[in-house]
Order: sequence, then structure tokens, then C-alpha cells
Amino acid sequence: MNAIHFAYNTALIPFDDIYKHATYLMKNKKEMHNALSEKYDTEYASFYLPFDLPMHHDIQQVINRIKIHKPDVYIIIGIGGSNLGTYAIHQALFGTLYNEDQLCRVYYIDTLDAQMVSTVSFQIKKELAVGNTIFLSCISKSGTTLETIINFSVLSTTLKTYYPDTWQHYCIIITDYQSPLWQFAQDNSIETITIPMLVGGRFSAFSSVGLFSLGLLGIDIHQLCAGARDAITNCLEPDNTSYSISAISASIIYQHYLQDIHIHDTFLFAPNLAGFGAWYRQLCAESLGKKNNHGKPVGITPTISIGSTDLHSIGQLYVAGPLNRLTTFIYVPSSSDIYTKPDTLFEYIFNKNDIKISYTKTMQSIMQATQETYNHHNHSFMTLTLSNISAYTIGMLMQYKMIEILYLGYLLEVNPFDQPDVEEYKTKTRALLDI
Ligand code: PA5
Repeated sequence: MNAIHFAYNTALIPFDDIYKHATYLMKNKKEMHNALSEKYDTEYASFYLPFDLPMHHDIQQVINRIKIHKPDVYIIIGIGGSNLGTYAIHQALFGTLYNEDQLCRVYYIDTLDAQMVSTVSFQIKKELAVGNTIFLSCISKSGTTLETIINFSVLSTTLKTYYPDTWQHYCIIITDYQSPLWQFAQDNSIETITIPMLVGGRFSAFSSVGLFSLGLLGIDIHQLCAGARDAITNCLEPDNTSYSISAISASIIYQHYLQDIHIHDTFLFAPNLAGFGAWYRQLCAESLGKKNNHGKPVGITPTISIGSTDLHSIGQLYVAGPLNRLTTFIYVPSSSDIYTKPDTLFEYIFNKNDIKISYTKTMQSIMQATQETYNHHNHSFMTLTLSNISAYTIGMLMQYKMIEILYLGYLLEVNPFDQPDVEEYKTKTRALLDI
């Protein structure tokens, strides 16, 4: 089986139309492929990240140095593109209970949640008091994001009370070269890794932004990048004349958009991919939701659902509500399974004593039944099936999705790399705080 299998015959769009737009995307594919040889010098700089073996090696060297401290707790401070990719990969590979049975516990701090930061700060003090090691990373491309700067100020102060002279050894800063945060790191002798200038936040998971933390947590960053590289080669290789997953998927989403279907639901039948869903939501919304080159507001509204949980919350609307949504199901057969035993509640309730029920088979049946129901109610959908969840497959999936969004940017005629309208609330917040 392929690492990722794509089925789209249930998308209610004629194949000719799908291929017409996918063919149109070939022009963009050529430009993207040419950009790859320019390394970090074009707006497609993120394509070069998985190929940059010297960069991977340098990050691995920093990780090896920091691993000597054997951190018991690792705190990742960053928001949006500066933490969503890391969280997506971490959760995909370690599961939703990623802090159980791990030598190093991990906390993600993004927004300003006083209660959470107090709890984490209390936790840090408890750990430090018994001689355990805490490590903080502060990740911000711009080096000025309010939430990140405040959270790092507060948590590094806690660290300083225990290590007044050596606190810097327990921190790393990941930011743009010469950003204000980079300057702070230089002035305070804090280890720093920079981010290639033209790699934007939401396209930066395979840069130091993601690779440092993931490598520190024991994730195989080389396999992760190998998956991303194979997706890029598959999509952009000029000799490859078959349509890629990214091109077909972008074409189908766009055809729905033309029919006024602007909602794209990613329905994840793999709870460990919830973080991936949050990452994709940002990637899609921030890259495409804006005025296009002709001044017209455009965008796809990405929603995320988790199977089977959300069938018990939003399923009714999905089935019988308006036909205003395209769905991409993502399914991963579970690598482990549990079976009901004879003589259990299951037999009592369902009056069946001759079958063993498996978790995997049941979830697969729920997904199949959901798709049959969607079919019956004329809901358009496509399905991505991952052979398993590994560093390689998640790297590949994320890269396919980044290319899909860039293709959609081309079709919708927007610049997918900027987010000019996020600035407004930032400026107003600063005015209110007088900073
Ligand atoms: O994708 C983006 O560019 C944004 O989501 C940023 O990542 C987010 O706003 C955080 O910015 P910074 O990394 O500069 O702190």
C-alpha cells in the first residue's frame, strides 16, 4: 500500500473538471519546481527545508548539546505557526496522552492563560526544588509577538530564581536573524537558532521551529523530512505527468468554491491527528482568507471534526443540514487493537455471544457507514488513508497539504504567504496597553 492513498471518486465533480484545473496548476508547479533550486531565495523557500541536510545536521548538534542536561520538563513557548506544526507532529506520534510514560514532560504555552501559566510556574518550582531540570524554548519568527514575549518573560524569571547565574543554559531562542528577540538572546548569551528569512510561520514546521523540539523529544526528524521530500518530488518533479494528491485536492476544493461551497471540513478518523487538524486550519485560513489580486474577499472556511466523537455532536447538522460543505476524511488504521472478551457487558447489551468485537474494525465500520450516509445525502467528500502514523507519513501529509494550499492560492489569486489583516488587532492591543 502507498504511504498515503487518495480516493476522490465521491467528490461530486465531473472528472473532466477536476483534471482541467489540475492541468492549469501545472504552470504553477513549474514555477515552484524552479524555485526549489533557488533554495531560500524565493517566496517558496519552505520547499528547501526538508532538503537542507546541513541545516538538519546543525540542529541535531544543538539538540545533542542540550540533551546533556536531560530535561525532565520541556516548555515550548510560541503561538500560531511557531507551535502548531510541532504540536501536530508530536501529538500524531506520541498520542493525545503524550505526557504519560515519557521521561520528559512537555507543555505548550501559546495564549495568555494566567491560570495555566501559574500552574506551570508552580510545577517548574516544584521540579527545580527537587533538582530536576527544566528547559524552555521561546519561538517567534518576528521576535515581537506579545503573547510569546510575555510568557517567556514570566517563565524565564521563575527559572532565574533557581539558576541566577546559569539560567541561560536552560533556554533556547528560535527566531529570525536580527529580530529584537535575537538581539536579546545575543545580549544574554542564550543559544539561538535562526529561521530562514523567507520561510513564513505557518510553512515553518520543517525548519528549526519544528525540528529542534521534535528532535529533542526523540522524534526521527530525518524520516519526517524524508516524507516531506517525497511529497515535494511527487508533486513538483517535471517528469512526473500524473496529477499529485495536492493538485487534485486543490482542484476539487476550488470547484466547490466556484459553486459557493466555501466550507471544507477535515474529518479525522484518527484522534491523534487533532493537532494536525489545528495546524491545517491555520494554514488554510491564514493563507487564503483575504482580498485577492482583484480586491475581492475570498477564502475557504476550514473546519475540523474528530471521528467518531463529533458524530455525537455535529453529525446531525452534517447529514441533514444545508449542502454547503466539502469533506476530506482522513483515516489511519490503528496499529494496535483491543477485543471484547466473552461474557462481558457487550454480550449482555447486544445479545451476541458468538462474535469478538475489535476497536479497529468498529471504527472502520463507523467511518464506512458515515461515508455511505454522506453518499446517500449527496454530500461531496474525498478520503486520504495513511498506511500508518509515522514520522515519514506525517511529514508527507503535511507537505502535501502545504502544496495544496499554495495551489489554492494560485487558483483564488491571493498571496498565500502574507496575513496583513492580523496586524490590526495587534496594533489596537498595543495602543490599549500603551506599549
Ligand atoms: O503563520 C504565521 O505567520 C503566524 O501564524 C505566526 O506564526 C504567528 O502570528 C506567530 O508569529 P511569530 O512567530 O512571529 O511569533
